[in-house]
Amino acid sequence: RIAEINGLVSGRLRIAAVTTAEYFVPDLLGPFAAAHQGVEIELAIENRDRVVGRLHQGIDDLAVMMMPPDDLPLERIQFQINPLVIIASSKHALIDKKIELSELSNDRWLMREPGSGTRMAAEQHFDELGFKPNVVMSLGSNEAIKHAVAAGLGIAVLSQLAVQPALWPGRYTTGAGTQHNGPSDTSVLLQAGLGIMQVNNFPILRRWSVVWRKDSPLSAAARHFLDYLQASQSEPKV
Ligand code: PGA
Repeated sequence: RIAEINGLVSGRLRIAAVTTAEYFVPDLLGPFAAAHQGVEIELAIENRDRVVGRLHQGIDDLAVMMMPPDDLPLERIQFQINPLVIIASSKHALIDKKIELSELSNDRWLMREPGSGTRMAAEQHFDELGFKPNVVMSLGSNEAIKHAVAAGLGIAVLSQLAVQPALWPGRYTTGAGTQHNGPSDTSVLLQAGLGIMQVNNFPILRRWSVVWRKDSPLSAAARHFLDYLQASQSEPKV
């Protein structure tokens, strides 16, 4: 299928992606760029609020995000699952225990900045569970969160991809009756001084979407990229 769509396309493909998507969007773009050398790709990485702002302004052809806004006429393709996990220092007393969220009410929580989709998803989930985290710090990037957590400053909700990027394309069943197989490749985590906590009602399972505005025509390059994305996603997962 991918060979069929390798027509001669040229032009610019502008994509905006939220920060956590930086751990996989380059993997998606690589084979596409190699097969479409006439397409100049511009990838902007911003948090959710800024990606939504760009969608409002019609800056990009496509946007990759977890929680598309509902106040814009958008088309979307949903793809891989984005599990949001609770990370802690590998030395945290409860790191190897199966626990309830309420057992973390005395912990110090680190959050992404306001405007982050990760933060929004975590807050929605906490609200649904009636949990009030003791938030002591906001940090403006996933990497800053990882380092602060490893340094023992607190615990945080973060996309599992941010701590185990090798999980992409994922070991998750993406159909109905979705199963999460749990953390893998723990050596990467341990090297970073991190662990994934085993907390009831976690991970939060959200899905990635590629969205575009219904009210503006897709460029040839964007149409080809979407065809490529759908073809690559339908391949069987190992
Ligand atoms: P963000 O990404 O936390 O960088 O905004 C997550 C999302 O919005 O999908």
